[in-house]
Amino acid sequence: LKVLSAASELYPLVKTGGLADVTGALPGALSGLEIDVRSLIPGYPSVISALEGGETALSIPDLFGGPARVLAATAGALDLFVLDAPHLYDRPGNPYTQPDGTDWPDNAFRFAALAKTAALIAEGAIPAFQPDILHVHDWQAALAPAYLRYGGKGGAATVVTVHNLAFQGQFPAELLGPLGFPPEAFSIGGVEHYGMIGFLKAALRLSDRITTVSPSYAQEIQRTETGMGFDGLLRERAARLSGILNGIDTGVWNPETDPRIAAHYSAKTFDARAKNKTTLQGIFGLDAEPGALVVGVVSRLSWQKGLDILAEALPVLLGEGMQLALLGAGDADLEARFRAAAVAHPGRVGVRIGYDEAVAHRIQAGSDALAVPSRFEPCGLTQLCALRYGAVPLVARVGGLADTIIDANEMALAAGVATGVMFQPGTRESLELALCKAASLFRDRDTWRRLQLNGLATDVSWRAPAKRYALLYRELVAERSTASG
Ligand code: ADP
Ligand code: GLC
Repeated sequence: LKVLSAASELYPLVKTGGLADVTGALPGALSGLEIDVRSLIPGYPSVISALEGGETALSIPDLFGGPARVLAATAGALDLFVLDAPHLYDRPGNPYTQPDGTDWPDNAFRFAALAKTAALIAEGAIPAFQPDILHVHDWQAALAPAYLRYGGKGGAATVVTVHNLAFQGQFPAELLGPLGFPPEAFSIGGVEHYGMIGFLKAALRLSDRITTVSPSYAQEIQRTETGMGFDGLLRERAARLSGILNGIDTGVWNPETDPRIAAHYSAKTFDARAKNKTTLQGIFGLDAEPGALVVGVVSRLSWQKGLDILAEALPVLLGEGMQLALLGAGDADLEARFRAAAVAHPGRVGVRIGYDEAVAHRIQAGSDALAVPSRFEPCGLTQLCALRYGAVPLVARVGGLADTIIDANEMALAAGVATGVMFQPGTRESLELALCKAASLFRDRDTWRRLQLNGLATDVSWRAPAKRYALLYRELVAERSTASG
């Protein structure tokens, strides 16, 4: 079975968040299940420079203002179709924003080009790879089902995965013609969304299947309070909607072999982990106290992640004798707030502003707990890495966080199955209570060690999720052949 995966990010070539981790790891996990995945990705400079070989599989004389071609190439273990369109992608920095931080003004065309090309391949434009399934991720690729519907020849069955409903890809209605759609596409059954062109909306309406990245988030997005304007549509399509949890790449995230950490360890050699804590305290300028609970954070700094709530709870965290090691980048006011906290509490609060993979690994290996106080979280990957590295997740009870952590309540502790500490609602008071609870669990060495080892024993790999995607693809192909036969 052949799948074309289309997305704007792919680890390790281009990444701003968990989307890249997923699109980078899922193809490998599926290959063991006899599913052949090719990933279509824009030819950003970082992608082009990573290619090994590459030949033109398709030429497109005019793709929204310039010539483009699809290169069939590999990079490491990844089988790629790279959309080489210099007029759209040969630009510095982040895939979405200009150097000054604002969106590129032609983002509608930059990502419509990705979707249009995905649709062409799904229709058979590259005879050597005729996909059975077109799997698009997030708004950047989400116009593809609309291109197949309006003016396309039809082809592969379509799946859209929503990694974050907050990013919707809304553009002015006047772009309808320039994007290549006929007037009738601008309807509630098509690409229209509250008077604009909705990229994600198009896929939610027109794809054969919708998935999101956890069962709880699949429920949350059908509710008015948390559906971000799509709850009605998603309720209508509920029979086509499911939640499949993410895994993590357990080769990249492996405390027994991780080249970025100071000391390797496993469940059997867990005491060796202590060295990573000392190293982490050193990197973050924290007092070298083995007995202080180090709370780690690895995150985008945005409203979604609830780190303003953590900043508010800082007096309680410090009052309990804990330390904070935070790595993150994003909103300028949050960056400033944490920088100021580090200055105000030397030795107790350490902050790194920026994106740094190596430091992310060191935080997972060296902190005692990893805080993820998100307001909403479709899946979340850092708590999965934390389980694998023995940093006890301290998480809000939302979305994928609720689905992946077993809260240390009385019953779970008695049964010996707890893996973390969960709090709700997402308020300062309930986070403060959770911090106090973590502090008291930490004082009981055996209990804390049990939480850590339960984390290490949890399967956070792609094995189970890949099987679910494989099943979904096969069901869809079977459904198609029944319908056409
Ligand atoms: P989201 O995609 O919403 O940002 P996820 O938890 O799904 O959240 O994925 C975040 C990914 O990005 C993880 O792989 C995490 O380790 C990584 N990450 C986030 N912030 C940073 C940072 N400042 N430096 C390095 N890695 C980061
Ligand atoms: C999004 C979500 C995150 C999820 C990731 C990968 O960025 O915010 O929760 O883990 O996508 O699916």
